[in-house]
Amino acid sequence: MPTTVREFRVRADGEAPLTMLTAYDAPTAAACEAAGVDAILVGDSMGNAALGYDSTLPVTVEEVASRTGAVARATDEPLVIADMPFLSFGVNEAESLKNAGRMLKEEGAHAVKIESGSHTVGLTERLAAVGIPVMAHLGLTPQKVNQLGYSRQGTSREAANEIAALAREHEDAGAFALVLEHVPANLATQVTEDLSIPTIGIGAGPDCDGQVLVANDVLGLDDQQPPFAEAFGDVRGEMEKAVSGYVEAVEDGEFPAEEHSHVESDLDDLY
Ligand code: KIV
Ligand code: NA
Repeated sequence: MPTTVREFRVRADGEAPLTMLTAYDAPTAAACEAAGVDAILVGDSMGNAALGYDSTLPVTVEEVASRTGAVARATDEPLVIADMPFLSFGVNEAESLKNAGRMLKEEGAHAVKIESGSHTVGLTERLAAVGIPVMAHLGLTPQKVNQLGYSRQGTSREAANEIAALAREHEDAGAFALVLEHVPANLATQVTEDLSIPTIGIGAGPDCDGQVLVANDVLGLDDQQPPFAEAFGDVRGEMEKAVSGYVEAVEDGEFPAEEHSHVESDLDDLY
C-alpha cells in the first residue's frame, strides 16, 4: 500500500522526524525507497541537479511529468510529490488545475508541491477540493531567485511574521504539509508549534516535523552545495571510479572478456 497524505500526517506525530529526499529517476527513487524515506520530492531542483540549468526557472511541466512517472513507477511505499515548475501554476486557475492534475492522473504522483505566497492560498484550496493534495513551500522559494536571490528569508520580525501568517493561511486552505526553506531555526520552531500540519525543513533547523534535502547534495554528486546541506556519501567519486575502470578495461583489451562474449560455431567460414 502506498503512503497517503493522511498517513504522512499521522507519521509526523511519531517519535522520529519525517524524511523526504528529491529523486528525478527510477534508480535513485528505488534507492530512496530501499533506504526507507517517507516521501520523494520530484523537485524542480532537477533544473540544476539533473538538467544542467543554472536555476529552476527553465524547468517545464513535461520534464517534471516525465520524471515523476519514472519515480512513481519505481516505488510503492513512499509518498511521491511532483513539484510544480515556474509559471505552471498561479497564472491561470484552469491551467494550474490541469498541470497539477496531470501529475496524479497520468504520472502516478500522490501530491504536488507549490512554491507558495499570497497568490497561492485560493489555488491551494481549489486543488485540495478536487482531490489534489498540496504541499506548500515558504521561506526561500527559488522560483523567485530574480527577486530574492538564494539568501535566508524571514530574518526580520516583519518578514518572519509574514511567513508565519502565510503558513497559517495555507494550512487553513487545506495544504497537507509545508516546506520551510532557508529560514531561521527559531522561526521554523514557532511555525511548527503553531501549525497542525507537518513542517518539512531544509535549512530550517532541527525542530521541523521532517527534513528534506536535494539528492545530489546527500549523495555527494556535485562539487557545490548549500551551507545547510551535507554529503552522506561520495557517489560522484564512485561514478568516476566505475567509469575509469570501464575505460581502462576497454583500452587495455580486458573488456569484453570471454565470459561477456558468445561464439556461434555455425557462423565460421562466412566468407
Ligand atoms: O525542488 C526542490 O528540490 C525543492 C526542495 C529543496 C524543497 O523544492
Ligand atoms: Na523546488
